[in-house]
Amino acid sequence: MRVCVIGTGYVGLVTGVCLAHIGHHVICVDNNVEKVKLMQSGQSPIYEPGLSELMQENAQAGRLEFTSDIAKGVEHGEILFIAVGTPALPTGESDTRYVESVARGIGAHLNGGYKVIVNKSTVPIGSGDWVRMIVLDGMAERTKVPITVGGGKAVSQLIEESPANFDVVSNPEFLREGSAIYDTFNPDRIVLGSNSQKAIEMMKELYAPLVERQFANDTSLAPVPVVVTDLSSAEMIKYAANAFLATKISFINEVANICDRVGADVTQVAQGIGLDSRIGTKFLQAGIGWGGSCFPKDVSALIHTADDYGYEAELLKATVNINQRQRLIVIEKLQHELKILKGKTVGFLGLTFKPDTDDMRDAPSLILIEQLKRLGARVKAYDPIVSQSGLSHGLSNVMIETDPEMLADKCDALVLVTDWQEFLTLDYGKMSRLMINPVMIDGRNFLDRGKLESFGFRYIGIGR
Ligand SMILES: NC(=O)c1ccc[n+]([C@@H]2O[C@H](COP(=O)([O-])OP(=O)(O)OC[C@H]3O[C@@H](n4cnc5c(N)ncnc54)[C@H](O)[C@@H]3O)[C@@H](O)[C@H]2O)c1
Repeated sequence: MRVCVIGTGYVGLVTGVCLAHIGHHVICVDNNVEKVKLMQSGQSPIYEPGLSELMQENAQAGRLEFTSDIAKGVEHGEILFIAVGTPALPTGESDTRYVESVARGIGAHLNGGYKVIVNKSTVPIGSGDWVRMIVLDGMAERTKVPITVGGGKAVSQLIEESPANFDVVSNPEFLREGSAIYDTFNPDRIVLGSNSQKAIEMMKELYAPLVERQFANDTSLAPVPVVVTDLSSAEMIKYAANAFLATKISFINEVANICDRVGADVTQVAQGIGLDSRIGTKFLQAGIGWGGSCFPKDVSALIHTADDYGYEAELLKATVNINQRQRLIVIEKLQHELKILKGKTVGFLGLTFKPDTDDMRDAPSLILIEQLKRLGARVKAYDPIVSQSGLSHGLSNVMIETDPEMLADKCDALVLVTDWQEFLTLDYGKMSRLMINPVMIDGRNFLDRGKLESFGFRYIGIGR
């Protein structure tokens, strides 16, 4: 099928590359000209395991193109994905201006043939109908049809009269950064929301190779479940899924804080409760809390939506509050170990919000750096991606070291912020000798306490 993906970030680029790989003809559009040039030269603008290779392979096979020309993309695609960012506004609600601009751009370039417009971005509930309205606005602007509610035609009337030959589908994305390619080829489910049967059938055809697990790691599994529903329910599924996962982490963090006080070990507790199949072991790792480009903004947006409709989402608010407090537990633990932090040097192992990504959006490390600087400490950091990429990610107040031993040198304490696999096998013996004070705050309960203690570290986990 002919596909256009607008927005080539973590979601759009992975979606475009994977759809090309399963046999579709994909044009990816981005308004960032530098990014487009980079992709045209065969380089990925983001770090995601396996992405560059797959991108190059499919571009060479002639199934994948990059452009900054939205007209070209819209003309090409029978299915048009909107995959631009929807960051949080200061009020917590979702900033949908990029979606609006793309929807308007699609409207301005629709060429008569039937198109399915797919909301892949995480958008507030009700956005399916709103996108339809904006696309119609874009079409009207092109054809100079006046849209004036009140004196002229009502928008709803215009929608009915319009020769618009398109439908909108909500198809939320559930991939995880760091394993985005794997997740796309091995989804737990595919969610399709629309009131158009024709659009749903086209989406099913698009995803058929994935549903049949032709590209899955285990091709013998039953087909991927496809949840077909209305637009609002599909939009809500995405928010509810992220809110549930964030709540699960905040829950275990609350249990960890109680464990700390009563002398229990939260890692044992998590194992003990996780073996109950109704609970499950995933998302029960206590630590310094959740972050990243999705959970914080999606939970806030759902709280905001509830508020708009006169409902106070108390559980979700507690989920957020617990998370904000959890990040600062590292500061409390450092103060307990080092007493005065002014003039002390703290080294961070990891900066990104989770391993195997270069994404720093809403990373817990950012809040910790800010607080430590406020308290007069010096912060150094080593992160496998940030240190190698040479990009400072706006971290002007942190000294980025290029290897873990340089990080440890003359530190008063180390904090493990991100559970990168390579941190399991560092030369902790050498690192402890280089430190002023061999203290390790393990913010992810990731390291082997016995091993670290044998190298002379004082080891402090979260809730252990
Ligand atoms: N990152 C994730 O792990 C993840 C997972 C699931 C869902 N989502 C959702 O997917 C959406 C995209 O997230 P992301 O992390 O990929 O965002 P991103 O910020 O990485 O990428 C957005 C891209 O859109 C481009 N863009 C912005 N305006 C444009 C326009 N008018 N025309 C063309 N391109 C434009 C930007 O240049 C950028 O490359 C968000 O709604 C997010 O909530 C993200």
